[in-house]
Amino acid sequence: MAVDPLIELRDVNKFYGQLHVLRDINLTVGRGEVVVVIGPSGSGKSTLCRTINRLETIESGHIVIDGRPLPEEGKGLAQLRAEVGMVFQSFNLFAHKTVLANVSLAQLKVRKRKKDDADRRSRELLERVGLASQAEKFPAQLSGGQQQRVAIARALAMDPKALLFDEPTSALDPEMINEVLEVMQQLARDGMTMVVVTHEMGFARSAANRVVFMADGRVVEDRTPEAFFTAPESDRAKDFLSKILKH
Ligand SMILES: Nc1ncnc2c1ncn2[C@@H]1O[C@H](COP(=O)(O)OP(=O)(O)O)[C@@H](O)[C@H]1O
Ligand SMILES: [Mg+2]
Repeated sequence: MAVDPLIELRDVNKFYGQLHVLRDINLTVGRGEVVVVIGPSGSGKSTLCRTINRLETIESGHIVIDGRPLPEEGKGLAQLRAEVGMVFQSFNLFAHKTVLANVSLAQLKVRKRKKDDADRRSRELLERVGLASQAEKFPAQLSGGQQQRVAIARALAMDPKALLFDEPTSALDPEMINEVLEVMQQLARDGMTMVVVTHEMGFARSAANRVVFMADGRVVEDRTPEAFFTAPESDRAKDFLSKILKH
């Protein structure tokens, strides 16, 4: 088990109306750990991510980030959002702003950095994701893979304690998937704490410390990639793996 927990969910339950979407979720993500979350469509993976940075409320249970309970609202919540970054399937870049301005924006607004400092940090991060030469372009002039790397740079610009990725490569053409996964691999090697919802099993095998398999709003398995892929315990996981590994 993780010795130094950064994200902890205890007995978390969430409903959408009558739909019990997260059921008694217990999950600990240690500092520097990479946890890959997989499971069938509708099993609650996105909702799990959204509850962790409080884009969704929960009905019962506790979520603790770096030793502090999730704030309800207000300043604490804005602070939390800055501490736990999120990267979505859709990149959500501002179309009328340059790549540089997209990465600098929240640094100015949330971190209150001076423009020069923010832009300097943005250029460092664009370099890190391999896009130093694209800073003055607009999102539409970039490929999907490049746009997603900008979105990762933008998330990193908040100096987050952890990053959540919700199917970051699902909207990408196949030839662009690897360039995004490689950036994520590098972040993992650099010690970033990451929760990654993905169907990229190669990434799970090579980068994850643990694989969490969800079905029907529950964590059904929470094991090392090696153990999960070679000997899944539950019928749900066996069935799921037989379907996705065929492709
Ligand atoms: N905003 C919402 N309102 C009502 N139901 C929702 C909402 N978001 C998701 N759901 C439902 O919750 C369940 C889990 O969804 P989701 O977390 O998106 O699953 P996954 O990401 O694993 O595909 C699904 O049945 C979905 O239809
Ligand atoms: Mg989802």
